[in-house]
Order: sequence, then C-alpha cells, then structure tokens
Amino acid sequence: MNVYESDYVYQILKDSGYEYTDDPGRADLIVINTCTVRKKAEQKAYSHIGRMLSLKRIKPHMRIAVLGCMAQQQGQKLLERFPDIDLVMGPREIEKFKLFLTDIIRGAKIVATDLRGGPVGIIDCAPRVPSFKSRVTGFVSIMQGCNNFCSYCIVPYVRGREVSRSLQDIVAEVKMLVNWGIKDITLLGQNVNSYRYKDYDFARLLQKVHEVEGLLRLRFTTSHPKDVSQRLIQCFRDLPKLCSHIHLPFQAGSDRILRLMNRGYTKEHYMELIQKLKDARPGIAITSDVMVGFPRETEEDFIDTLDLIRRVEFDNLFSFKYSDREGTPAHKMQGKIPEEEKQRRLELLQSIQKEITLKKNREMEGRIVDVLVEGKSKRGNTLTGRTDTNKIVNFIGNFDLIGKMVKIKVLNGYQNSLFGELF
Ligand code: 5AD
Ligand code: SF4
Repeated sequence: MNVYESDYVYQILKDSGYEYTDDPGRADLIVINTCTVRKKAEQKAYSHIGRMLSLKRIKPHMRIAVLGCMAQQQGQKLLERFPDIDLVMGPREIEKFKLFLTDIIRGAKIVATDLRGGPVGIIDCAPRVPSFKSRVTGFVSIMQGCNNFCSYCIVPYVRGREVSRSLQDIVAEVKMLVNWGIKDITLLGQNVNSYRYKDYDFARLLQKVHEVEGLLRLRFTTSHPKDVSQRLIQCFRDLPKLCSHIHLPFQAGSDRILRLMNRGYTKEHYMELIQKLKDARPGIAITSDVMVGFPRETEEDFIDTLDLIRRVEFDNLFSFKYSDREGTPAHKMQGKIPEEEKQRRLELLQSIQKEITLKKNREMEGRIVDVLVEGKSKRGNTLTGRTDTNKIVNFIGNFDLIGKMVKIKVLNGYQNSLFGELF
C-alpha cells in the first residue's frame, strides 16, 4: 500500500514538473513515506527524518513532507518536535497532496490528518506522462481502511474505516496500467475480501478485472481468513489469470491467542480454508504473516503456532515479534512477554520455516515454469521474473525479453529464489 501511495505522489510530482533524484543533497523537496505498524518501522522513519532535517539546515529553502501512517498517528506532535518539517500528511489526505505542495512552497506549515477522505487511485491524478512506463507489474488500490480491530493492530486507527472504490474506477485504472504495458496487477486493500460496491463483492470484482484484455496476471493482497468466502475460493477454479498464490495471514496457531487477538477464526477453520484452496487450485502457493510473543502467549501456544507452520508448509512466511502499539487493546493487556523470549521464539520459528522454504524451492528443480520477465536482476548480469506462484526466478537471457512470458527450466532452488534456463 505504501509503495502504491508513493507511486501516486511520484506521479503528481512528475506531472508538476519535478525531477526525481536519489541524492537527497540535490533535492529541493524530500518526501518521506512512513509506516507505524511496528515500533521498528517508526524508529526507521525517525532516523530518516533526522537525517533529512540536518540537510535542511544547510539548505533552508528545502521542503520536507512526512506522509503515511506515522504522520497520521503523530500529527501535530511531529511538527512540534521537528518544526522544520513542512507537511505532515496522513494516508487518507493523499488526494490533496498537490494543493498542500503549493502551500508549503509558499512557506505554509500543514498538518493534514482527516480520516474521512479517499480512497483514491493513480487514475485520479491522471498523469500525462506515466513515470513507470517500463514496469511490468503494478498495484491498484481497491479499498482503504480496516474495520477488524485486531487487538494488537494500529492500522484501523491510522487508516480509518473501510471504504471501497467504485468498480468503474478500478477497471479503468487496470485498463490504463495495461495500456502502459503493465501485465501483472495486484489489487490492494487492508482487507480485500470486504470489498463492497453496489451489488459487487470481491469475487465479482475479480471476475470483472479478469476480463480486461491484455492483462496476463491478476493477484490480490491482503485477505483475512474470517472473510474468505466460498465464492472467492471458486475464483481460483474459474479464473485462469488469477495467480496460484494467496497471502493469508494467520498470526497465531493457538485458539486462545487468536481469541485474545480478536481474529474471529480458529486454527482448524484456517486449516480447512487452506485445504479448500488447495483443492480449488492444486499447487497454489500459500504465504502468511505470523507473530510471536503476543501478551500471555505460553510455550504451549507457541507450539500450536509451530504445529500449524509444519502442517501447512507455507511457501514463505513473514514473521514478527509482537510490538506494543499505544492506543490498541493489546497495549493494555497483562502478561507481556520479555524481549529475549520473543527473540528466542522468533529465531526458532524462522529456522523451521527456512527449512520448509528451501525444501519447497528445491522441489521445483527440473520443473518447467512460466515466468513473466520483470527486469534485470540486482547483480545486473541476469534477468529476473516471477512464477505465478510468486517465486523469483533468475536466468540468463536477452534484455528484450523484459515484459514477456517465457518458459524456464528450473535448475537450482535456493532460499530466496530459483535459478533456471530458457526452455
Ligand atoms: N506487532 C507485531 N506485528 C504486527 N503486525 C501488525 N501489528 C503488529 C504488532 N503490533 C503484523 C501482522 C500483520 C503484518 C502486516 O504486520 O502480522 O499481518
Ligand atoms: Fe490490522 Fe487486523 Fe485490520 Fe489486518 S485485519 S489491518 S491485522 S486490524
């Protein structure tokens, strides 16, 4: 979501005549997009802001804008602490960015944290010259906000209540991106299954977007286990462009902890969902988010989490230590777990998942996969792309293959990627 919103701001700036530089020393305007989901993200944002403010001391005409969820959460406090910041803007104010920009150039100081606006998309800022024309993959926001109030999570407070974009806007934006050459689109929302527009639910939206000619691959993220409907599962049977991958955060494997987290499902329900998805689309890749050290999590609860991980065999897993967020119900709970214990649980969990990921990637060796070529790899001497199961594949080939779908024979499965050759 942050990448998408950064793109939005980038398009506006590009369209207003700004040129991008990755050298902050040369910049007249610095835009810092922030996250506040865990304390670590917030600390990163603060240290970045600090570095940019020291540049402003040398270049007083420079303008600094702090965007995103941390800006929303801190609001006025951020400006009081760092008076040299020019704009503090939450995610639901993004539509007004262009207006605010004009004002801060004139010397105004602005704090914008109204949660009633949005959601908006790239199409709403209607760039004359798209700045990411050579890209192969793109995001489209379909809804904004969250009504779930998981007890640990700050998102509902900083992104507000759920609001869906109109079906027409979403389809128009997908068509626009496809016209620019983008072939693989991920529909975005804090909880895409809650999408509602007139008679359209998420499954019907998927069907509509699926019809867009020229689109090769369709993905979505994130979905909540309690809202995965039979109709959505059916989409994996019926829609061939829908990629064989679902990111379905489970957070914990203990029913007691899931209740404390206010997640609205049990471990068994989650396991059943996984089975239904695997039946609907054999070979579907499953990825997830999990947290260790939630308040009152016992060794037994943690073992339940490890058991779920071993049974599902996720293709990839994003794992975190519980982080206390002020204003959430979990912040006030008794029985906080010491940092060292959280660390121990995280390391054990990650070592188990690492083996599973590697095993799954090794199993790919010898197979022929369809890869959409996205660009040069980081090292620059090979091409990189992804399978529809979202695995990164590197291979040697001509740069004119970028943007094309190719068949690759997998030679090696590594921890974070596959290596192969053109088939
Ligand atoms: N502490 C740790 N992890 C968190 N997440 C959300 N809130 C917290 C928190 N307070 C994780 C969840 C979520 C992912 C985006 O971040 O696993 O799925
Ligand atoms: Fe946070 Fe839960 Fe909403 Fe996800 S579903 S954004 S974890 S409150």
